[in-house]
Amino acid sequence: MANLSWGIGWLKTFIVAVSLYAAVVAANFGDSAAQRQLDKVLELPGQDFDVSFAQYSGYVTVNEKAGRALFYWFFEAVEDPESKPLILWLNGGPGCSSIAYGLAEEIGPFHVKPDGASLYLNPYSWNQAANILFLDSPAGVGYSYSNTSSDMVTSGDKRTAEDSLEFLINWFERFPEYKGRDFYITGESYAGHYVPQLSQAVVWHNKATKSQTINLKGYMVGNALTDDYHDHLGVFQFLWAAGMISDQTYKQLNDACDSVSFIHSSHACNRYLDIADQEVGHIDPYSAFTPPCTPNISQSNQLLKRRRVIGTVRERYDPCTEKHSTAYFNLREVQEALHVPSALAPSKWETCNNLINEHWKDSPSSVLDVYKELIQAGLRIWMFRYFKILFFIPVTSTRYTIDALKLPTVKPWRAWYDDGEVGGWTQEYDGLTFVAVRGAGHEVPLHRPKLALTLAKSFLAGSSMPAAASLELVSDS
Ligand SMILES: *[C@@H]1O[C@H](CO)[C@@H](O)[C@H](O)[C@H]1NC(C)=O
Ligand SMILES: *[C@@H]1O[C@H](CO)[C@@H](O)[C@H](O)[C@H]1NC(C)=O
Repeated sequence: MANLSWGIGWLKTFIVAVSLYAAVVAANFGDSAAQRQLDKVLELPGQDFDVSFAQYSGYVTVNEKAGRALFYWFFEAVEDPESKPLILWLNGGPGCSSIAYGLAEEIGPFHVKPDGASLYLNPYSWNQAANILFLDSPAGVGYSYSNTSSDMVTSGDKRTAEDSLEFLINWFERFPEYKGRDFYITGESYAGHYVPQLSQAVVWHNKATKSQTINLKGYMVGNALTDDYHDHLGVFQFLWAAGMISDQTYKQLNDACDSVSFIHSSHACNRYLDIADQEVGHIDPYSAFTPPCTPNISQSNQLLKRRRVIGTVRERYDPCTEKHSTAYFNLREVQEALHVPSALAPSKWETCNNLINEHWKDSPSSVLDVYKELIQAGLRIWMFRYFKILFFIPVTSTRYTIDALKLPTVKPWRAWYDDGEVGGWTQEYDGLTFVAVRGAGHEVPLHRPKLALTLAKSFLAGSSMPAAASLELVSDS
């Protein structure tokens, strides 16, 4: 008996020990799986339509000491997510939310209706072609936060890249089926810095750890700030050629801003930028479509004024759309559905965090050296640009910038087509593809996403932009 009870006792102890061990293992391995279940978004307020794809949102801690956590929102592809690549999308600013712009206005599946309370489905969402991950970066942007308040005034390119890499490493643990999946980083405007910098961080990380978990294949940037000198040159030339600024101001801008940082402008350069602003006048490129916002446009223009020539950052400025998003993402029930605890929610959700923007630290004057390194590394690199009424990194800037890379042309400049119409123009270089997306400012904003989706599909497939289908028929007749 004694032996038996000892035996049973031992067995019990053993089982307890084994289950404890299993629990610990499960806690480690299971943490991510459990968190992923918690991140699943079931239903959004104001969503009166069904979707077939799964979505997840939540936080990934990127720095425990400072208490920095980045917010992501992830959408699986509409069809066959298991066989589709993974795309990360980043907006710029610096300080602007990828949820506010990339997701809710541009390439995401959900856009916000003018009531600021309900959603509609974007038929040209990029999750038609890929699994797509939106990240609010750095901490302090959108729902992303830091428990160290000084982080708001000490952000810069370097920490943004480090935190974003940390985010990716952890995110792939939470979504292990994407380990090794073809992965692309995309973004626009000031993300013209983030995207190549994060790509470089991933390439270095993979090399150092001999890991292929983050299977980065390439990156694509739109209207991207790339090289301050050439970007300035292109902006000024564009404004002058469009007849918006005087000959004299054009000359002064070139003299004063020539070797000045885009983000940290000089006093003299700012002075001429202000003059240029006055000469350009208070144009709202979208006023034609946004009459209800016109009465308040002067207020919005404060921001626009400071930013439009120098800054930035995103080429679209539609105060109305931003208002809808701002209303929606400030709703407590929306935040709950997205797993933003009330204790961690920003006191006011904003499309861009001005504090971060105004205190931005390191911002190299050029990322062309990063391009050169990553072209060497064999990444697929595309630059695209929307043609619109624009002040922000116009096509002239991108062309000067590409020119500075001195890459041999592989396929010459030509028009590309979408549904029989010119969708824009493209040129393929050795190591880089340039695509201009036609979609002038006078078009309904809803038209561009279709061209953008065609662009995304070609980029992901690594194929040239579609050529004309039926032009020969026309010339035969
Ligand atoms: C930030 O602080 C809150 C409140 O103490 C805590 O719940 C949260 O986990 C912290 N976040 C990080 C990333 O450490
Ligand atoms: C203008 O802004 C004010 C304050 O934000 C608001 O109360 C008012 O309704 C707005 N007017 C229009 C026409 O949008």
